Amino acid sequence: MVDTILEVDDLKTHFFLDEGVLKALDGVSFHIGKQETLGVIGESGCGKSVTARSILRIVPSPGQTVGGTAKLFSDGGASRDLLKLKPTGEEIRAIRGKEISMIFQEPMTSLSPVHTVGDQIEEAILIHKTQDKKEAHQFALDMLDRVGIPNPKDLSKAYPFQLSGGMRQRVMIAIALSCNPKLLLADEPTTALDVTVQAQILELMKELQQELGMSIMFITHDLGVIAEVADRVAVMYLGRVVESAPVKELFRNPLHPYTVNLLKSIPRVGRGRGKKLQTIQGTVPIPINLPQCCPFMARCEQAMPGVCDKAVPALEQVAENHSVRCYLHHENNEVAST
Ligand SMILES: Nc1ncnc2c1ncn2[C@@H]1O[C@H](COP(=O)(O)OP(=O)(O)OP(=O)(O)O)[C@@H](O)[C@H]1O
Ligand SMILES: [Mg+2]
Repeated sequence: MVDTILEVDDLKTHFFLDEGVLKALDGVSFHIGKQETLGVIGESGCGKSVTARSILRIVPSPGQTVGGTAKLFSDGGASRDLLKLKPTGEEIRAIRGKEISMIFQEPMTSLSPVHTVGDQIEEAILIHKTQDKKEAHQFALDMLDRVGIPNPKDLSKAYPFQLSGGMRQRVMIAIALSCNPKLLLADEPTTALDVTVQAQILELMKELQQELGMSIMFITHDLGVIAEVADRVAVMYLGRVVESAPVKELFRNPLHPYTVNLLKSIPRVGRGRGKKLQTIQGTVPIPINLPQCCPFMARCEQAMPGVCDKAVPALEQVAENHSVRCYLHHENNEVAST
């Protein structure tokens, strides 16, 4: 198990709303290897951000993690279950930022509006890395430089609202990487950036990954980026992982009808000009009071009545490193629970 840094099993996070219980995560399972990049994809609302937040224990109210485990392994092989730690306790606070860092989807909501960006990076460094203010200051400038911020000295004196979206995203990345985390949870880290800056940032993340031996959970809508950065991919649908496989295998041989459709919806230059782009029929339902059947059934062209409507299929391994949650690929179409 020393090759694994994080193992998440049957993670359940629910939002207790007036309308009912919204099961944002209803049994998410996956693992991330040391120095591995796990790409996480899926349509809006399928639970990607809530998964990252659940691991760090920062799910906003009225959300609550109600089940599962998230084991963080240390080099010696010992593990701690993050879901057992108190969300406001010292233990998880020491892990946040130092062992596990997160780049948030919306940089404006996670940067403080009343502190300069330089102060915000320095603060993270002073908490986790060095007590020497001068050293922390220099390190902050170096980090801003590394994420491609021009003139870091001047810019470190700016407040977040004075920066463009792309600049703010880069500041977030600098903060997240400044303490050499063992695991980086990157939630759409480059979506707000133009393609050239995106390429620079992806390159920087790869460089730092090799230098620091960091593992990355890379959440994105962009399947092109996934193909570029991920070693393995987990496809999420309605609060569960429905397929996972090494990146090449997933692109070459997608099994779940949802994954097949996601991949078909990538626009390609020169392919079927003038033809309509493929989309997945229907929309992602809100996960309140969902029936106990395959959650993709209503949108699936290959749904098998009498099989798919009996119970939620399990995530089953169908080949080495390739798991899928679909009766089409399970032996004897056998019906399992969860
Ligand atoms: N604060 C909240 N209160 C209530 N429901 C929430 C809250 N945050 C998330 N949810 C619900 O949890 C589910 C998962 O949301 P999540 O933000 O994880 O999706 P996502 O996969 O990150 O989507 P996107 O690609 O749009 O970022 C959705 O149904 C969402 O409506
Ligand atoms: Mg999200």
